[in-house]
Order: sequence, then structure tokens, then C-alpha cells
Amino acid sequence: MSIQYFEKENIFLLNTPKTSYIIGIFDEEQFLGHLYYGKRITNIEGIHSLARTMEPPFVPSKNDRDRSSFFDAFPFEYSSHGVGDFRESSLKMRTKDGHTATSLVYVSHVILRGKRKLEGLPATFGQEDEVETLEIICVDPVTNVRAILSYSVFSDCDAIARSVRVVNDSNQPLYMERVMSACFDLEGRDFDVLTLHGSWARERHMERKPLGHGIFGVASLRGESSHQEHPFIGLLSKNADQTSGEVYGFHFVYSGNFLAQAQRNQFGQVRVLMGIHPEEFCWKLEPGESFQAPEVISVYSDQGLGGMTRTLHDLYREHLIRSPWLHKKRPILINNWEATYFDFTSEKIVDIAKESARLGIEMLVLDDGWFGNRFDDNRALGDWQVNEEKITGGMGKLSDEIHAQGMKFGLWFEPEMISPESKLFKEHPDWAIQVPDRRPCRARNQLVLDISRKEVRDHILSQVFAVLHAAKIEYVKWDMNRPLSDLGSAALSSDRQGELMHRYVLGMYEMQERLLQEFPELLLENCSGGGGRFDPGMLYFSPQIWCSDDTDAIERLSIQEGTALLYPLSCMGAHVSVCPNHTVGRSTPFATRGMVALAGTFGYELDITKLSEEDKTAVQWQTRTYHAFNDLVREGKYYRVQSYAENHDHDCFMVTNAKADKALVFFTQVLATPNMRSRCIRLQGLKEEANYRIQIVNLDKEEQFTDTGKVVSGGILMNAGMIVERPWGDFQARLYYLEEI
Ligand code: GLA
Repeated sequence: MSIQYFEKENIFLLNTPKTSYIIGIFDEEQFLGHLYYGKRITNIEGIHSLARTMEPPFVPSKNDRDRSSFFDAFPFEYSSHGVGDFRESSLKMRTKDGHTATSLVYVSHVILRGKRKLEGLPATFGQEDEVETLEIICVDPVTNVRAILSYSVFSDCDAIARSVRVVNDSNQPLYMERVMSACFDLEGRDFDVLTLHGSWARERHMERKPLGHGIFGVASLRGESSHQEHPFIGLLSKNADQTSGEVYGFHFVYSGNFLAQAQRNQFGQVRVLMGIHPEEFCWKLEPGESFQAPEVISVYSDQGLGGMTRTLHDLYREHLIRSPWLHKKRPILINNWEATYFDFTSEKIVDIAKESARLGIEMLVLDDGWFGNRFDDNRALGDWQVNEEKITGGMGKLSDEIHAQGMKFGLWFEPEMISPESKLFKEHPDWAIQVPDRRPCRARNQLVLDISRKEVRDHILSQVFAVLHAAKIEYVKWDMNRPLSDLGSAALSSDRQGELMHRYVLGMYEMQERLLQEFPELLLENCSGGGGRFDPGMLYFSPQIWCSDDTDAIERLSIQEGTALLYPLSCMGAHVSVCPNHTVGRSTPFATRGMVALAGTFGYELDITKLSEEDKTAVQWQTRTYHAFNDLVREGKYYRVQSYAENHDHDCFMVTNAKADKALVFFTQVLATPNMRSRCIRLQGLKEEANYRIQIVNLDKEEQFTDTGKVVSGGILMNAGMIVERPWGDFQARLYYLEEI
């Protein structure tokens, strides 16, 4: 049993294979307190003392005079609002009289095998023998709000999934102004805080700093999880590195506005809160109605960041991504965006397809510009009819021509958007999100569709389905190229305008669900101006997400390092593009671009007809490498060996198979340095006793492998290191294959 309730002690013990989470019920008022989260504990004797209820200010039944002191220091499982805990609250309900005080106490609980679905939301899942769930029912006796705190623990993975459902059991409407999905009151320790920061073309760069007193948080108010901050927060012991030290990771399974914060209070205690951002959020709950808050994943690792990373990778592969493509080798694709932008015809696309097929590429993806009068990015979003000026004879014909080359075919859509210059806007100007009498702020000259409205979702999906039914299309890239602003919905009443942001996200999830139900075999790739909506919520729908519009191999080192901190490599859309690179103007060797993209889903985004003969030949070597090693990259265990983000010199990570008898080591030397010797790098994840033959995988010559002539034990490779020769020149990559002999 992974979840146990000890009646005498009033304690819940939640166990994953290597971690424990302990909750207690305290005092006559039945306060729910957090006692422990960390390494697995088998004997809970004496656990109560951790709540410090035997020291001043005690509990309210022993000292009601200093109730506020109790509230302000007790480690709450789900914090109250406005009743004496001056730290950040988890739930804030406004009554019709305008009061917001909210305080929950324990009432009852149930323990279930398996895990319930979260209505309308993406969430982790598992069979009855893989996951167990504790639901704690709490109430606020004054407002008659009921909250069901849900905790699911996995038997094969050191992760806990938490969420909250709030029910209005009163006889009057209540306004929910804040609902966090999880609150973690951790015993005060000297933590560093780790977040992923970014921008367009610079997503998910790791940032680590000491957590001081006060509140540190990251957030999005853009209506998507965003390029700028990531819905993740990590708390690290000072000595934590890739292989050792303690790490708590909290990750939000949601794709809209979020708040992720850590608060260190006067006693050094740390409260972590994660949920939908309370700004721009107010949800009206009629009597009897309920609200399901999205899920938070928490992971504890005593094996440093690497332990957290591999737990999340396993969790997402086994319990979040549903696509039938998850464990399959994805077709190597070529995307025409950086090749042609808007300037293409079907003849040009077929030319690209022909040359691609010859070189081993397996799918052509037609990007933006094939519909309406979309000759540039100023118009036509919402008009999802094939532009026959560009696509002569229609999409069916083009698809047939591409399939005739032995390739699959994919298409780009941006279903959530509307251009003011479009037929759709002329017909339905009120379908755009906007505030009456205020000119809505444009971004890329476009507005956002109010997909909180069913008729809008139905209309857009019927157009998308018509295109997908009229031609053979195996892949869809679902893009979203601007954040939400000017929040106003013509369909919502004045007291429900604060629901728009969340209703938008629910609408988007529903559209993706319907798309997948209509086309169950579809390979869906999500995208948002690159990686602006790369989050666990989207992974529930698509097994891969376009990582960044920055395809420069060196920029990608940091982007992919930050992304792989949380996500399996099989999720990261990565393509080889031309040089000078379109985002930074840098020129890197073709082989380096190939190796960096091989660490993701792998594909090309360039005009292959214009490549030099030398590079065309190299495409064949790269596709050969993909087929040889994608199983290992896609399914393997990931180890971060050296961080370019930290050392500003070189990058190294590796993947091993489950048996650890095969490994790939990806090494990139960024700038060359004169008069240096070879480097000695300590590997990870191998078997101490096994001997490994070390070969170089060639991405720049016909011969597939160069044997280094070295056979080295796992013990030596991990404790002493592997010798890596310094490549000649800047931006040089080297791929090593290690196999046990
Ligand atoms: C976004 C995507 C790109 C491309 C363009 C098309 O920026 O990230 O990959 O699809 O839109 O407009």
C-alpha cells in the first residue's frame, strides 16, 4: 500500500518507491498540517513533534489568545486566507457580502486505487496497480465551501500529483478569487531556488539563486505558459548538483496563466504555492457548482537534479503523454518555414519533397501561408481554406504528390487566432477577444479568438477538419503566436469576465481533444512562436512541442539543456537549419547542427534544393544516425554531464538504455582555445563493472564509426572520466557511442 492512514495518530503516510509525504490532523478544530516530504520513511514514530504544537503558541484549544501566532507559523497543508496566517493563501472565496476570509479544516477522506480524471484538464494517469489516490475533504464551516485535496502517488515513479476541487455547498453564489493547486509548507532550510527563464528564441534558460526572506516567484499573465517564465520552481540544497544533494521540483500541468512562488517567512519556513495566477482570475460558483484546479507534480530527489530530471522524464513518458506516437520513431521531417517563409507554390514544395525523399527525409511539413490570402503575416488567420493560387489543384493533389515520393505530409494551423483582415473577422468581429470601445492591442497584426465560446470552437474546428479530411495528412503543427490581452468576452456576463483566461485554456484543450478524437493516429506537434507554450499540459495532447524558433546549434545548447531538465528528449522539436542562422547570424558546422538536432525529434528546416552537394551527402549520414540511435535517444535515461550554461565553454550530456550497456555521449566544444590538452569528463549512469568500447559516430564522413581503440570500465569512466579530444575549430561537436563488450 502506498497510502496509509494511521487512525490513532491521525496521520497520512504517502509513499513512492523512494520518497515519503506525511500529513497530520491537529487539534480539536482538525487543522490539516504538513509534516514531512523527503526521503522514504518506514517508521513514523514521533512524527507529530514536527508540527511543534507542544511549544508556544501551541494550538488554539490550548491558547486561543494567540491564535494568530499559531496560524502564522503552523505548516498548513492548504493555507487559509485572512484569518491570521499572514503568509500567502491558497484559497480566497468572496461571499456576496464581500467578505473573503476562508479557512478549511479536515472532515473526512477516501483512499482509492487508480486516479480520477480531472474534468476538462490534462493530468497524469495510471492503472489501478500503478497509482493510488488520497482525497481529503475539507470544509470552511462559515462559507460552506468544500475543498477536496487530491494526492496521487505512483508505484513506479517518485512523483506525487496534487490537485484541488472546490465545491460551493452554500445557498448563494461565491466568487473564487484565488485557488492554488498545491501548497507545500516545508521546514526551513537554506535553499537555492531554480527556475527557467527566457524570451522568444531564448526559452528555458536555467537560473539559480539563493532563496532569501520574502517572496520569490515566477508567473505568466499572458494566457499561455510563456517564453518568459516556466511553470516550474525547484528548491535545492546548497550542495545540490547533478548527482547529489536534495532537490524539490514542482511543475504545473497547465498551459495558461500561472503563479509559482516560494515564500521564506520570519521563522525561515518555506511555503511553495503553485496554481492559476490570481490576477485576471475570478470564478463565480453558483450553489452546488464545483471548480477543478489543474494538477501540480512534485518530485523529491536526494540524488541531485539528475534524480529529479529522470523521475519527471519517466513520469511524463509513462503517465502523461497519451499519443500513439510516444514510443515510436517519429518520421524525420522537413519544414518549409525557414526555407521559403510565405513565398512558395506547390511546385516549390514538391521540389523540396523530391530532394528530401532522395536523402532519407520522411515527411514534409507545409508551414504557414497555404490558406486564405495569407501572402504575409498581416492577414487571413481564421480563413482556413486552401489558397489555390499557391497550392495549385488543392491540398489533396499536393498531398498525393508528396506521398508519391514515399513521404508523409504535415500541415500548419494557428486555430486560436483571427486577423482583423480576414473574412472571418468581417463576419464575426465579436469573436475576437476585446474590450468594448477599446481598440485591442495587436501582436503580429493579429487578435485572439474567443475560444471560450463553443460556437467559435465549432466553426474553427469544422474548417480544420474539412482540410484534414480532404487530403492525406499525418501530422499537424498547432501554433499560437501571440499572448492574450484586452480581456473581454462578448459572451460572458459582467460577473464572469474574470473567467475568460481559464475558459480560454479549457476551450483550447477541448479543441485539441476533439482533433485527436477525429484523427486518432495524427502526430500532433504544439508550438507557440517557438517554445512559448512548452508545458506538461500540452504534452498530454502532443508527444512533441517545437522547442524554439531559434535553430542555431549553439543557442540550442542552453535551450535544450533547460528543456531537458524537465522533459524527455523525445518531446523536444529540433531541426537542422541553414547558416548564417536566421536568428543570430552565426555559422556552425553542418555536423554540429545535425548532432544538436539529433538530441530532439530531429528534422530539417531549410531549402534542401539549395544545399551544397557536400551537405546533401551529410544529410544521409545524419538520417542514418537517427535511425541507428533514435530508440536510445527517445527512450533512454538522460544524464547532464557538463553544462554550457554554467561553464560557458562546452556542453556534454548522455543517454543510456535501461540496461546501461549502451550509451551515447553528446559533446560540443563551443569556442576553441589554443594550446590545450584533451579533456577528462566524468560520465554517469554506466555499470561500474562493465567494460565499454568507445567509438565515435561520424556525422561528417561516409564511415559510420571510428573506433577509438579504447575499452574502458564503467567505474573508470564515471569516477575518473573519459578522455575527450579537443576538436579543431569553433562550434565542434562529437558524438560517442559506448557499448558494453
Ligand atoms: C511561429 C512558429 C514558426 C512558424 C511561424 C509561422 O513563429 O514558431 O515555427 O511556424 O510561426 O508563422
